[in-house]
Amino acid sequence: MTLKLENVTKSYRKAGVDIDAVDTVSLSIQPGEFASVTGASGCGKTTLLLLVGGLLHPSSGTVSICDIEPYGLSSNKRARFRAEHIGFVFQQFCLIPYLDVRENIVSAALAARHPNAELRAEELMEQFNLSDRAKHLAEELSTGERQRTALARAMLNKPKVLLADEPTGNLDDANAEVVLKALAGFAGNGGSVLLVTHDARAAGYADTTHRMQGGKLSVD
Ligand SMILES: Nc1ncnc2c1ncn2[C@@H]1O[C@H](COP(=O)(O)OP(=O)(O)O)[C@@H](O)[C@H]1O
Ligand SMILES: [Mg+2]
Repeated sequence: MTLKLENVTKSYRKAGVDIDAVDTVSLSIQPGEFASVTGASGCGKTTLLLLVGGLLHPSSGTVSICDIEPYGLSSNKRARFRAEHIGFVFQQFCLIPYLDVRENIVSAALAARHPNAELRAEELMEQFNLSDRAKHLAEELSTGERQRTALARAMLNKPKVLLADEPTGNLDDANAEVVLKALAGFAGNGGSVLLVTHDARAAGYADTTHRMQGGKLSVD
């Protein structure tokens, strides 16, 4: 699916001050493309990803995914669209603490009713070195294991779009490579990937790299 942002701005108003966290950003990502955005902490990366993912209304500009404007849909339709087409890896993981690894991964199927969710979860746990943690509750995991569980959950429904917020931020080199190769493989199978990270090495796996500074985006 083609992701498209046209002149998108998101301003937060705090204590009477406006912060343009994302400032007049235009960006297009094609099916099969692995794109990255790098920039320092606070430059607007998470805000950008939430805008693309249908989770945060822009202050102005348009977001479209395969010619559908998620913010033009009712909130129910937007939620269904997200569940079926978009995998999102949150910077803070957002796992359900009282579910184990397998249950957290399979929980994505509740929203989109993906067939064979259990089998797919087994494959993903294998791919991300989580098989021997299947019965661990999320709160019993290391940070790196949580991160990989969050990625497996995002991939369960075989989305067309994968949005990943610092997905290697807590990983050792070997597991970071597993995750980055998974993102590249996802794009290789025709998916659209947007990775945001402060890690230049992670961004090196992408086909196209963009830089963000003070809410503004530039092509590398
Ligand atoms: N909900 C919010 N309300 C007010 N300001 C926010 C909010 N979320 C983020 N910001 C501000 O917007 C800027 C960009 O934040 P963020 O997108 O999280 O950056 P990054 O992910 O690159 O670290 C920061 O200056 C941050 O303080
Ligand atoms: Mg962030």
